[in-house]
Amino acid sequence: MNDFDFYVPTAIRFGKGKIACLPSELARYGRNVLLVYGGGSIKRTGLYDRVMELLSDFKVTELSGIEPNPKLSSVEQGAKLCKTEHTDVILAVGGGSTIDASKHIAAAACYDGDPWDLVLDRSKVSKALPIITVLTICATGSEMNSGAVISNEKTLEKLEINTPLLYPRLSICDPTYLYTLPPKQTAAGAVDILSHVMEQYFQPNDEAYITDELSEAVMRTVVKYAPIAMSEPENYEARSNLMWASTLALNHLLTVGKGGAWSVHPIEHVVSAYYDITHGVGLAILTPAWMEYVLRDDTTARFARFARKVWDVDESDDRTAAKEGINKVRAFNRSLGMPSSLTEAGIENADIEKMAAEAIRTSGLSERSYVKLSAVDVEKIFARVF
Ligand code: NZQ
Ligand code: ZN
Repeated sequence: MNDFDFYVPTAIRFGKGKIACLPSELARYGRNVLLVYGGGSIKRTGLYDRVMELLSDFKVTELSGIEPNPKLSSVEQGAKLCKTEHTDVILAVGGGSTIDASKHIAAAACYDGDPWDLVLDRSKVSKALPIITVLTICATGSEMNSGAVISNEKTLEKLEINTPLLYPRLSICDPTYLYTLPPKQTAAGAVDILSHVMEQYFQPNDEAYITDELSEAVMRTVVKYAPIAMSEPENYEARSNLMWASTLALNHLLTVGKGGAWSVHPIEHVVSAYYDITHGVGLAILTPAWMEYVLRDDTTARFARFARKVWDVDESDDRTAAKEGINKVRAFNRSLGMPSSLTEAGIENADIEKMAAEAIRTSGLSERSYVKLSAVDVEKIFARVF
């Protein structure tokens, strides 16, 4: 097991009605609140009204319209508002996109230069406004981690900014807020959770037994409850288990004692940067293709373990079990209504060579991933999904 440091300073309030704590929690930081939200789902569901009722004693400035795959221009707008309105605390109500934009705004509000500088050089983040989140979709784990993924629409780069200053101070996770999710978002979220665990599970170091066992429990939870949440959107047991799974999948717990770079996310981020597709949809398409591509003699044992422990594959031969595990992942994604090719997702005539080069340039794929990949390898993975 690798040495590790573990410190996650985000408080979680989990359960129905937990939002009632908002006024007292926000008041710790001041009275000037920047309320950040997306394209309007919180207005349709009534959550906006509830938040405004709770914030009646605060001065609230609003930044709405945060796009899925949040854009740098929204961050610039938010940082400007924080400066002119003397914001004390940012309240993000929504999913990973809203929370990620809020994190970048929190840092950009305390910086005098171009906000994109902070993405390119995180050492420039020396301060950030406090952030509180109210989560409305379970997928990214952004509610309890220090990362934010932002798209620069001018350069077509989608990059992560990650520093401990960006941990939310508090996240409110009420599973009943997930009841209104469209099926596609429930499905994309489930795929994203599964992928986060897989990215950490398939890494060069396989001696962190305890972390692998915890990871398998989180993955089994997604496999069990995602289909239930799809068919019964108001099933509290399914929604609550998935919601906590999404947080655990990416709050650093499942990377303890491991180490290495991620494999599928850097490839997907290029696709969603170029074509603005839903992150989980891109992952659903690329993950089985990556698995098939990297299955070889020295990876077979781990893929076989994954197949047996997560998908209950009952095959004594390791290579057969490993292949069956890949089939299970593909069938699971299909059962959730995910497309199985980028063509099916509406992408045609892609410049595979350029996208592969970008994935390599912006990640540790060629140096530190489970199976090191060159640009040519990534091109071959892309070729499998068109
Ligand atoms: O914008 P609104 O109108 O709110 O609608 C959203 C959006 O269209 C809708 N939605 C959210 N909650 C809802 C709801 N609709 C009805 N009822 C509700 N309760 O769902 C759509 C997707 O929302 P979004 O925030 O984009 O989803 P998600 O949480 O999947 O975030 C995706 C973004 O996070 C990044 C992705 O790349 C992508 O940009 N990631 C962030 C990570 C992190 N910070 O750690 C890690 C991930 O790997 C990922 O890269
Ligand atoms: Zn993800």
